[in-house]
Amino acid sequence: MAKGEQAHGGAAEARPEGRPVEDALSEDFFAAREAELRGRVSAKRFAHVQGVVAMAERLARTYGVDVARARLAALLHDWDKGYDDEGVRERARDVGAQVDPWLVEHMPRLLHGPTAARALGRAFPSIPEDVLLAIDRHTTGSTDMSALDMVLYVADALEEGRQFGRVAELRGRIGQESLEELFVDVLAYWTILIIEQGRPLHPDTVNVWNAYVMKNQKPYLHRKERQ
Ligand SMILES: [Fe+2]
Ligand SMILES: [Fe+2]
Repeated sequence: MAKGEQAHGGAAEARPEGRPVEDALSEDFFAAREAELRGRVSAKRFAHVQGVVAMAERLARTYGVDVARARLAALLHDWDKGYDDEGVRERARDVGAQVDPWLVEHMPRLLHGPTAARALGRAFPSIPEDVLLAIDRHTTGSTDMSALDMVLYVADALEEGRQFGRVAELRGRIGQESLEELFVDVLAYWTILIIEQGRPLHPDTVNVWNAYVMKNQKPYLHRKERQ
C-alpha cells in the first residue's frame, strides 16, 4: 500500500434498500465514483487511476472496445488498493470474494482486484458483469482475456504516469499491432520485471503466458529478434 492511502469501505458502498438503481455507464455515475475514490486512495494512486482512465479510453477507441465500459473499469480497478495486507485479507473475508487461499496467504496485494469486483458488484448492481470481470482479473490476467480485460490490463501498465524501462517503447506500439499482441508484449515485459526484481510470480501468470504464446505461435522474443 502506498503510504498515506486509506481505504474506507462501508457507508459509500452500502446501497440502501429502495434506492433507485443507477446507470453505471452514465457520466453521473462515473463522477460520483471518481469523487469517492479520491477519499479511498492516496493522491499518487488517484493520479495513476486518472492516467489509466485516459489510456483505457485511448485503447478502447483504437481497438473498437466500448469506451464507457473501458473508462469505468479503469476508474474502479484500484478501488481497494488502499488496504494494507491484513486489511485486504479482512476485506476478502467480508465481501466473500472467491479467492485462492494460497493468494490470501502469500500475495495479499493481488487480492485488491477480486475484492473490488465483488464489493462493487454488490453495492452497484448496474455495473456490467464484464466490467467487474476486467477489474477482478486486472492483476494476474487470465487465459481467456476479453478485449475489455486486455484494454484494462494494458492501460494499467502503459498509462502516461509510468516513465521507466520499456514502457514508452510499448506505448509506441499502440495501434501498430493488435490488442492481443500488445497484451502479450506487456505481459512479457511485466513478467520479466518481476523476475528481475526477485519477486515471486503468481502461478497463473505462467499459465496465462503459456496459453497466449502457444495460441499465437508468435512468441514475443522471436518477434523482437525479427525487428
Ligand atoms: Fe491494481
Ligand atoms: Fe493500477
